[in-house]
Amino acid sequence: MTNHLHDDEQLLRARVALASEIERVSGVLSSRVVEAFLNVPRHAFVPAFYREEGGVHRPWRAGDGWLREVYADQVLVTEVEGVHAEDAGSEGVRGVATSSSTLPSLMADMLDALDVRPGDRVLEIGTGTGYNAALLCHLAGAQHVTTIDRTEHLVATARTRLSEVGFEAAVVQADGADGYPGNGPYDRIIATCGVRSLPRTWLDQCVPGGLVVAPLGGAVARLTKLPDGRAVGRFLHRPAAFMPLRDGKEPGWEVPEPTSADSRTTESGAHVLDDPGFVFWADLHLAPTVVRDGHALRDTADGSTAHAQGRTVALGGPRDLWRTVEAAHQVWLDRNRPRREWFTVEAGPEGQFAGYTAPDGSTTRWSL
Ligand SMILES: C[S@@+](CC[C@H](N)C(=O)[O-])C[C@H]1O[C@@H](n2cnc3c(N)ncnc32)[C@H](O)[C@@H]1O
Repeated sequence: MTNHLHDDEQLLRARVALASEIERVSGVLSSRVVEAFLNVPRHAFVPAFYREEGGVHRPWRAGDGWLREVYADQVLVTEVEGVHAEDAGSEGVRGVATSSSTLPSLMADMLDALDVRPGDRVLEIGTGTGYNAALLCHLAGAQHVTTIDRTEHLVATARTRLSEVGFEAAVVQADGADGYPGNGPYDRIIATCGVRSLPRTWLDQCVPGGLVVAPLGGAVARLTKLPDGRAVGRFLHRPAAFMPLRDGKEPGWEVPEPTSADSRTTESGAHVLDDPGFVFWADLHLAPTVVRDGHALRDTADGSTAHAQGRTVALGGPRDLWRTVEAAHQVWLDRNRPRREWFTVEAGPEGQFAGYTAPDGSTTRWSL
């Protein structure tokens, strides 16, 4: 009995510590969001997660120090190359993270932007561990929440965990690109995986006056659906590097190493892509066909590649992809580093656009 009470107190303390850290990092948050973090236990959704060292992800299960890590404001990777941390051997797994529990303070900012009220019908794309779905259940009522992910294993695990903490939400295996019309329309739609532009299905499944919050090109966009079917909004101030909405056609590609034969020096070296403020701007200038991996770029349309290391950039393919980065960086500096929260976003029949109005009144729009 004493131990049980001690455990409960320890868990409560851990949740209080996480909630105050979230408030410290995020600043002003709705008290409903903070209260959700105080009430929903994260540890119930991450009995195991990975720690990466030297390219190898090794599972870390309940035990010494585990609880402290679970209630820290950090991302917890739970699946690598489709292997769940609970199923991984001690030798670990190499490769790309395919599911995780998002950074709690970023989750809080997104939930705050989503402004969920009791009784709102909510769709989440990217169930992952189920922790965010549990917070949504706390805010809206579990019977109003639908959450989808791409594999039966992920949704079955999350469904069980949600049920164990008392939330009987609809947890469904479905492709996020299609949304989930079955339980729609929704008052609130949130995606926890990134897209380059919003799938039309998400906007169609949202009611007029409803909100869509989604990672869009390296930032989080918050859009209101208008009665005429269009959606307009802004980007949040937080940088957000989410794992992408996968379509099964992810371009596996080797990052080219610089060689003297096809490399040149640049003033705008690799470091420029370490600034999330610039990365948002750079992504707007790069073609939608360009994929980025750290300091490396590849245009899937023509095969051009650029890989910066320090002030040297290795180039491949028919065109110098890094020139776009250099030009964008110069304009970004000239315009005094426009911040992502100064950008508008709109989606309608004519396409999706990010927009920026400079102090001189001139507006630039980029197709997403
Ligand atoms: C960052 S994790 C989500 C975190 C989750 N909300 C949580 O609280 O644990 C991103 C999730 O998006 C899912 N995802 C990626 N592509 C998807 C797709 N096409 N359809 C549905 N889910 C997808 C991944 O499987 C992964 O679980």
